[in-house]
Amino acid sequence: MLRVEHLTKTYQSGGRPLTVLENVSFGIEPGTTCAIIGSSGSGKTTLLGLAAGLDRATSGEVYLKNHALHQLDEDDLAVIRNRHIGFIFQSFQLIPTLTALENVMVPVELRGVSYDYVAGEAQRLLSEVGLEGRIDHYPSQLSGGEQQRVAIARAFIHKPDILFADEPTGNLDSETGEQIEDILFDLNKKLGTTLVIVTHDPDLAARCDRVIRLKRGVIASDSASGVDSENEKVVNGVAP
Ligand SMILES: Nc1ncnc2c1ncn2[C@@H]1O[C@H](COP(=O)(O)OP(=O)(O)OP(=O)(O)O)[C@@H](O)[C@H]1O
Ligand SMILES: [Mg+2]
Repeated sequence: MLRVEHLTKTYQSGGRPLTVLENVSFGIEPGTTCAIIGSSGSGKTTLLGLAAGLDRATSGEVYLKNHALHQLDEDDLAVIRNRHIGFIFQSFQLIPTLTALENVMVPVELRGVSYDYVAGEAQRLLSEVGLEGRIDHYPSQLSGGEQQRVAIARAFIHKPDILFADEPTGNLDSETGEQIEDILFDLNKKLGTTLVIVTHDPDLAARCDRVIRLKRGVIASDSASGVDSENEKVVNGVAP
């Protein structure tokens, strides 16, 4: 589904280069769930943005369903994102001039599906995240957790093959957070949606098939390879 090879991202910061991701490589099988963990500033959001084709690496390659994202121009990237990728941002990125319902409809409206059909689906999704009474609210009239739930409904509406979620439950109380988690994992089970979830929540990470831990821009451990490079130790009995 997804393969990243030797990804490096370097920012110019105050005239000096700052490498925030260095030589990161991994592949994710279709229909699986993967958590990306690591302390604040370790490069998780940066990695997600590169893998989802929202940002470009300084060097390295990104393949999504055999599309070489690093070789596509902006227009072709937008088509791939709209067709295959869902993204839940750490900062919700709702459009302030659109209501909750309209925000959820955006990804599919762009594709020219009938308005009534999309509106019906958007209402259904908003009910699923517990916002049936808020569909006409603008983002400024919603709480942080409610905005996050609108962003989650929006990420589901076009039934993406792969969903990238950046701390999807970070702003929610534990009960709502668990409901959102259940929706994510249901989507994975029912539709086979591949999930890549950045999280600080150990329980959420534990629900995923695989956990990749970043430390200062490099992979410190990956439960799929069984290697914890930080301690140079072998876990799960698998040799490096
Ligand atoms: N546009 C930018 N210019 C310079 N440095 C940046 C830029 N964007 C991010 N960084 C730096 O890159 C590093 C990684 O940022 P990133 O947002 O990927 O971290 P993160 O692991 O998602 O952290 P958090 O858990 O706090 O969300 C940070 O140290 C950040 O300061
Ligand atoms: Mg982040």
